[in-house]
Amino acid sequence: MQEAVVLVGGLGTRLRPLTLTTPKPMLPVAGVPFIAHQCAKLQAAGVDHVVLATSYRPEIFADYLGDGASLGIRITYVHEREALGTGGAIRNASAALESGANDPVVILNGDVLSGHDLRGQVELHRKTEAAVTLHLVEVADARAYGCVPTDADGRVTAFLEKMPDPVTNWINAGAYVFRRSVIDAIPAGQVISVERDTFPNLLLAASDIRAWQESAYWIDVGTPEAFVRCSADVVLGVAPSNAASPAGSARIGDAMVLLGAEMANDVRLSGGTTIGAGARVGTGTDVDESVVMDAAVVGSSTRVRRSVIGKGAVIGDGCVLDGCVLADGVVVADGTELPPGTRVELDVDIAGTSNKPLSDPAVTDTAASGT
Ligand code: GTP
Repeated sequence: MQEAVVLVGGLGTRLRPLTLTTPKPMLPVAGVPFIAHQCAKLQAAGVDHVVLATSYRPEIFADYLGDGASLGIRITYVHEREALGTGGAIRNASAALESGANDPVVILNGDVLSGHDLRGQVELHRKTEAAVTLHLVEVADARAYGCVPTDADGRVTAFLEKMPDPVTNWINAGAYVFRRSVIDAIPAGQVISVERDTFPNLLLAASDIRAWQESAYWIDVGTPEAFVRCSADVVLGVAPSNAASPAGSARIGDAMVLLGAEMANDVRLSGGTTIGAGARVGTGTDVDESVVMDAAVVGSSTRVRRSVIGKGAVIGDGCVLDGCVLADGVVVADGTELPPGTRVELDVDIAGTSNKPLSDPAVTDTAASGT
């Protein structure tokens, strides 16, 4: 048996307004919730029991994934009433683990798509009998991340916060293998960050933290830009098959069109765009490197680029959107040219008790240029 914990309880604030209704790991990437790609990777790497550490909107995960049988894995849910942070969530999830004290347990951040060799990472962990084995990935510029230096034997020597001049370009990729007993030694019921508390404390205690250094395909979908890039990479096959489920038969040229979508004959789709189930796209419209979610409507002679259009949103004729994010159900009037990078949300109660449109369509007042 190989077990894994996937951390899916975050609020996903950088992806608002999309995450006001849907937790980040449940947002569609190439037509299926992001978590489905991670489950496929885990299953292919030999994981048979996945514990989902939930906090924000747990019912949305359970409704889609159920007991995991359709994905060839067994899923157990462990819920945090108050979010416990990444380290606290790992400790809390331990209640559902069945592994022995010395067994390896895989832990994944629920927002990272990675083509690295997870089996290899687990094997290294077993061979070295480390406390924790971390996947490190090399980035061109580590200034936006904390970096993780290692010694000549591949032992992690420090966890350094963001700095203007990083000592290494290897960063924590958000995929760990923990010895079960190390998880159980994390204090229970407390808010703990695995990156800022657990790992530095393990180093202070001279525990062996090993690095699995592999610069395979890797993306953290935490921002709208990364989210559209990731979805496009899966559609285009840039993301390798051990990172994601393939776009399969729904792929048409450079795009993916889901069942029941209605497209005018002259619509141009490019750059790994996904058109969701039951969505409609009008004549003369261009959609490039974007995610158009289920039942959304894009009018005619409209240009959409690097944008995310929420479920059931309606974009009028002759609109221009570049780098925009529209919440579910937003209405954009004909002829609206949104400033690049605009995010439009509805009046949504974060606790999920209401999700009602503003009395006025959200952006009609920005209609300025266009046709
Ligand atoms: P931002 O608010 O945009 O930073 O996103 P986030 O809430 O997802 O936080 P972050 O990207 O740092 O989280 C990394 C992973 O850990 C994500 O998959 C989160 O869902 C998960 N996570 C973060 N905090 C918690 C928590 O308190 N409990 C649980 N169960 N998971 C968490």
